[in-house]
Amino acid sequence: MEKKSKPTFYITTPIYYVNDVPHIGHAYTTIIADALTRFQKLAGKDVFFLTGTDEHGQKIEKAAAEKGLTPKALADAVVGRAQDLWKALNISHDFFIRTTMDFHERGVQKLFQRLLDQGDIYKGEYKGWYCVSDENFLAEDVPADKEGGKACPDCGKKAIVVSEETYFFRLSAYQEKLLAHYAAHPGFVRPQSRMNEVASFVRGGLKDLSITRTTVKWGVPVPGDPAHTIYVWFDALHNYVTGIGYDWNMPLFEKFWPATVHLVGKDILRFHAVYWPAFLMAAGFALPGTVFGHGWWLKDDTKMSKSRGNVLDPQAILKTFGPDPLRYFLLREIPIGQDGNFSHEGFLHRVNSDLANDLGNLVQRTLTMVRNYFGGVIEDPEAESAKDGRLRTEFEALKNRVFGLYDDSSLNRALEEIWSYISDVNRYLAEEEPWILAKDPGRRKRLARVLLQAAAAIRGVSYLLFPVMPGSAEKIWAFLGEEKKPAEILYPEMRFDDFKPGRKTLAPEALFPRVDLKTFLSEEIKVGEEVLAVIEKAGRGPRIDGGESPVPGVEAKKEGMKSMDIITYDEFKRMDLRVAHILKAERIPGATKLLKLEVDIGTEKRQMVAGIAETYAPEDLVGKRLIVIVNLKPAVIRGVESQAMLLAAVVDDKALIPFFDREVQAGAVVK
Ligand code: MSP
Repeated sequence: MEKKSKPTFYITTPIYYVNDVPHIGHAYTTIIADALTRFQKLAGKDVFFLTGTDEHGQKIEKAAAEKGLTPKALADAVVGRAQDLWKALNISHDFFIRTTMDFHERGVQKLFQRLLDQGDIYKGEYKGWYCVSDENFLAEDVPADKEGGKACPDCGKKAIVVSEETYFFRLSAYQEKLLAHYAAHPGFVRPQSRMNEVASFVRGGLKDLSITRTTVKWGVPVPGDPAHTIYVWFDALHNYVTGIGYDWNMPLFEKFWPATVHLVGKDILRFHAVYWPAFLMAAGFALPGTVFGHGWWLKDDTKMSKSRGNVLDPQAILKTFGPDPLRYFLLREIPIGQDGNFSHEGFLHRVNSDLANDLGNLVQRTLTMVRNYFGGVIEDPEAESAKDGRLRTEFEALKNRVFGLYDDSSLNRALEEIWSYISDVNRYLAEEEPWILAKDPGRRKRLARVLLQAAAAIRGVSYLLFPVMPGSAEKIWAFLGEEKKPAEILYPEMRFDDFKPGRKTLAPEALFPRVDLKTFLSEEIKVGEEVLAVIEKAGRGPRIDGGESPVPGVEAKKEGMKSMDIITYDEFKRMDLRVAHILKAERIPGATKLLKLEVDIGTEKRQMVAGIAETYAPEDLVGKRLIVIVNLKPAVIRGVESQAMLLAAVVDDKALIPFFDREVQAGAVVK
């Protein structure tokens, strides 16, 4: 019988300039590619993931000369920085290409020769402005400055005039063909807004492209005319074909070409969505499915880049947290396509709140209970109630939604969905109160059901998280006594019900370290001082209460203070606090501690649930004026949606609300 071959998925990152120290911006592209790779493998595809380094060109030539090295010696000395970082980030690429590899150079020469022979490349004279830093000719319409010079519109550096004999690629001949391709394949460039930009650039007219240099020695020589070297972008783009075997392993090349997705930063979209498809059309190769242009990571609202001196080295973060928290943060924080601002506090917030609190605690608590109550064994439970069953049916629906979102590269939305389910599981445990069930020997089967249900949900969640947090998912599966690894189960075969009684679970270790801001920042002293200065300037002492703060787990080590959660003034400002008037108050059937309130917040009426029934009778509350947070994500408590939260002191387990002692208008801002 003929073996059915799996569908293929070929994904690439740009190849990084070898002279730069890789930073969080570079890590971002590679992490996206890794998550998509791991997901597509779960989805049953045969995946190839290529990354590497761009090692030719004037930039490297200059950097090497400054260090008194040959360019190749410089590249050899520093290529390990990228390779080590990918290892530390748990990147699962299939091949790491360097453009100095001989098969790549041969492949580039061969394709150059083919285009020359067929007339798509011809010899001429070029005179124009050139940016050495970006290895790019300036468009003719870039205006001159007062001295008659020109600066690169992308990086702002001074451009130089280049006049030389050169080989041109007949790009102008591809204008209409490119436009026709865009029209027939609207998903060729993502996001859609960038497709429009690219198409309008092409519609504006394409000139032939100079693709060789006589002034740059460090590059692939033009076959038969070695005074010329091939332009670094023509050379670099072809890594996508040579990296999967073009000209040296043709069966592999034929299996994976064309690429499914080229992931690139928005700054290099034009090279990938205009020049590259034109080169490919000329060579007679099929075009890639999608060029996905992602946004930039900014620091202090400017693009992180070496020339601006604001790069963040991921090594400090990796040393403290390992790869998964950084992978999670970068993918969760922004959709691919948008820019994101990297802040240490934002990062810590996500780690402490989403990872340590929501997920880490859930795993820890559940498995500790299985261990304490059942010696670590998942025991035979009572039959599922409708509520228990909801965790299962919700999981199956979640799985399908997450599948669709991952498949669409909507990684941040997939993670949001997963976290909403994690909240449901946490709520289930809070409501079923297994610690109370454990006190009643007659309810052991019920207790077994609640813990089985929670553990099965945790198994499901970690499976869904595997593409983004592979190390943590594998650890959780090992804690759960799972024999297989998540990567061994295909997506359609993943079922909630496969978690069955009889398993022996392990004692969980802490999954995510709780790190205090100061320790974290001592890795990056400069940034640390800035952050602490902001806190001092804002004049806010750290919180000493045990309540939930936007940065739970952050400690400041001042004498006499136990454990404090520090937030910045900016984070505090994000809370919308208003004066509210209580219009109605009533008990919630079956809930002894809760009251349902209807409040007027000036602009509208809101319903809220508050744990104040033990301190206040409903009839005493109507007409009272208090402070509520109005921009907190609504939560459903005991089946009632709570659309705001009040502030109260907790004394001897009782909530005491600070009411206003005089008339104050509903909706007044509290700051
Ligand atoms: N060597 C070329 C690519 C050739 S691909 C055939 C190059 N290298 S680069 O090292 O400068 O950039 C590589 C990638 O990193 C680009 O996609 C770029 O957008 C991305 N990033 C660099 N800084 C970035 C941020 N601050 N944020 C997100 N990505 C950014 O260009």
